[in-house]
Amino acid sequence: MTSEIDRIYLDNSATTAVDRKVINAMLPFFDVKYGNASSLHSFGKEATDALESSRRKVATAVGAMPKEVYFTAGGTESNNIALQGVMLKNKSRGNHIITSSIEHPAVLETCEFLETIGFEVTYLPVDKMGIVSLDDLDGAMTDKTVLVSIMHANNEVGTIQPIREIGALSHEHGALFHTDAVQSFGKIPIDVEYNNIDLLSISGHKVHGPKGIGALYVREGTPIQPIIYGGGHERGLRSSTENIPGIVGFGKACELISTHLDKDIISMTKLRDSLIKEILDSVPKTKLNGHPTKRLCNNVNISFEAVEGEALVLSLDRTGIAASTGSACSSKNFTASHVLLSMKIPDIMALGSLRFSLSRYNTQDEISYILDKIPPMVQRLRDMSSLWKEE
Ligand SMILES: Cc1ncc(COP(=O)(O)O)c(C=O)c1O
Repeated sequence: MTSEIDRIYLDNSATTAVDRKVINAMLPFFDVKYGNASSLHSFGKEATDALESSRRKVATAVGAMPKEVYFTAGGTESNNIALQGVMLKNKSRGNHIITSSIEHPAVLETCEFLETIGFEVTYLPVDKMGIVSLDDLDGAMTDKTVLVSIMHANNEVGTIQPIREIGALSHEHGALFHTDAVQSFGKIPIDVEYNNIDLLSISGHKVHGPKGIGALYVREGTPIQPIIYGGGHERGLRSSTENIPGIVGFGKACELISTHLDKDIISMTKLRDSLIKEILDSVPKTKLNGHPTKRLCNNVNISFEAVEGEALVLSLDRTGIAASTGSACSSKNFTASHVLLSMKIPDIMALGSLRFSLSRYNTQDEISYILDKIPPMVQRLRDMSSLWKEE
């Protein structure tokens, strides 16, 4: 079958196709409703109405109040505002932030910057499945801890953290809790109240919305300051003329999440599980990275012993399948990803990791096509590898 399959996109953790309904919602805001939300005339009013309507949709999708949602340029910016904005504002309370060793660079590099200006950062380790220990978190808390920032789900291996418990523990110690939910939003129901979250980062392009738009949820009353200054947009936290087409698209994508999520989770989980089981069954010396059950419904991350992840990605691309290396090797030094290293995955496996990330658009036919291609492809690469030892 599958001769009619042209290209298969299984790199949805990198970015997603924009939903047609999202595109249609955005279009008028490029050509007819192009006003600036700060303007007093009818064009401005149209933009303001769209801005506030989208804010309500984003708020609904995470269980927040609209006034707690701030639009940003994406997940990276949301993380930067959350970490820098909270730490700078609360200097008199303390200078300590706790995060994990497997965060996205948008958090890790921000923490490294904060260290250069005098803040102290604890990077918690994770276990073999990629989970942070609550005991470790408890032990790392000091009376100077202002903020705990632990991602909801990891972008490489899909492991889901116990964020509700992390939030509760942070609050017990008087610290605020931020979570980077860029990968989990649209894959796991999120309620900021239930999960004890004070700040939450999300991004449009990971959820069938446009690129260059995201949001930061900030619980009402949380002490935070801006990190860029200007015209006072987004109630002073994020100056710059609002990206209305992007915001409208993101709002529509959130509305679709609010209505579709349960169904999407069921369909993605089914495809994920069949992909994992069939690959592990049909290809020897393979291992699933990340937690078997506490994992994103759209994440498959498998290591193939003695295969280079990049070679596999390029071979797959030649057959029309878009995936990614789970290892994100640096082309210069071929070191494995910080996430897999933190999980103590041996190099020979870490360098051969492959990530498939699904979306609600993927089908069983596509999965069957991939399952046909993978075993001979892996064998071919192993036959060429000096590292491969067949038993
Ligand atoms: C966990 C996580 N955080 C943050 C980001 C950055 O989001 P954006 O591309 O919207 O800046 C990403 C993107 O890959 C991500 O996976």
